[in-house]
Amino acid sequence: MTTVRTRVAIIGAGPAGLLLAHLLDRAGIESVVIDQRSREEIESTIRAGILEQSTVELLDSSGASPRVLSEGNRHEGIELRFAGEGHRIDFADLVDRAVWLFPQHEVLKDLIAVRLTAGQDLRFGITASRVEDENPAHPKVIATDAEGQPLTIEADFVVGADGSRSVARAAVSGSATGGYFREYPFAWFGILCEAPPSSEELIYSNSDKGFALISQRSATVQRMYFQCAPETDPTAFSEAELWEHLQARVPGTTLTEGPIFQRDVLRFRSFVAHELRKNRVALIGDAAHTVPPTGAKGMNLAIADVVLLEKALRALLLENDDRLIDAYAEKALQRIWKAQHFSWWMTSMLHVAPDASDFDRRRQLGELRSVVESKAGQTYLAEAYTGWPHQP
Ligand code: PHB
Repeated sequence: MTTVRTRVAIIGAGPAGLLLAHLLDRAGIESVVIDQRSREEIESTIRAGILEQSTVELLDSSGASPRVLSEGNRHEGIELRFAGEGHRIDFADLVDRAVWLFPQHEVLKDLIAVRLTAGQDLRFGITASRVEDENPAHPKVIATDAEGQPLTIEADFVVGADGSRSVARAAVSGSATGGYFREYPFAWFGILCEAPPSSEELIYSNSDKGFALISQRSATVQRMYFQCAPETDPTAFSEAELWEHLQARVPGTTLTEGPIFQRDVLRFRSFVAHELRKNRVALIGDAAHTVPPTGAKGMNLAIADVVLLEKALRALLLENDDRLIDAYAEKALQRIWKAQHFSWWMTSMLHVAPDASDFDRRRQLGELRSVVESKAGQTYLAEAYTGWPHQP
């Protein structure tokens, strides 16, 4: 049995865990990061691609992602399409802000490379089973390594950045699953294809047949989604059928088709854990909350948690000042619930629920029209989509 001692033990080498380790290191606070997955798996998992302006500024200015500005693409607006017409939401004009398209796995490649170059203790293939805090001042992570050997990490603080199936959550909220929770009666069918972009900006399209999102990855690879039933089998459709489904949901645009080389079905859930911190154990990112992907908030919200927690850990571990850590959950939850609302709102405004009545459908089109015909409505969408600034 191996025991490792560190100041901060971080479970999960996703964007939240790695960025936290990076910022702590800059403040002179040592950490150990573990993840169940291999480096290859982490660097190749397809996730979302939209970064808020504050996320980009932090990744760039802290040196966490040297490529975010040079390789990311700045987007100054999106299109909302409904009733056969497109309406541009002009972020630059409305709120003088923008978002960047830079896929999450590219951010992760940068973060991992930067951390390893800096000598970070970053271990892959380590499975955490639980967090113990019998001694609340010195919590422990109980884990096993890739060879099945037991590993214990003793720390001054433990952070659960271990995603929606968090094992740290039980130590914080007393239950592995306890939280505020909502499921949706639809999912997204996502594809990656080899083709040039079909549109300069992202198109969020509401149609009688359901929702579609035309997103991008690069000049030669595109990401697109259409609304499907949650139990849809990703292999159920031929390529021709997938193009038919997508085309039918973006009337007015002819999509440029190309070979589809990846397909997946994404379930929709909204979740916020009942508690985000207990003693010296805290949750960040998907361990603390999940949002449906329509508002592109998942990774951005994780990074906003990191901003708050890193400051709180600096005060606690360097100055023995516990005021910020005591305020962490309440402060983080204010943004989390704003993002939950925005993600729920975009989702419910754009998708067609399987049981929607004629009234519901007409009301929904009225809602979309209220947004695009009102400067106030457009401004709310632009503010939330480009992201509220991080608190100083
Ligand atoms: C994506 O490109 O994967 C993407 C973009 C915007 C969203 C969700 C996903 O709202």
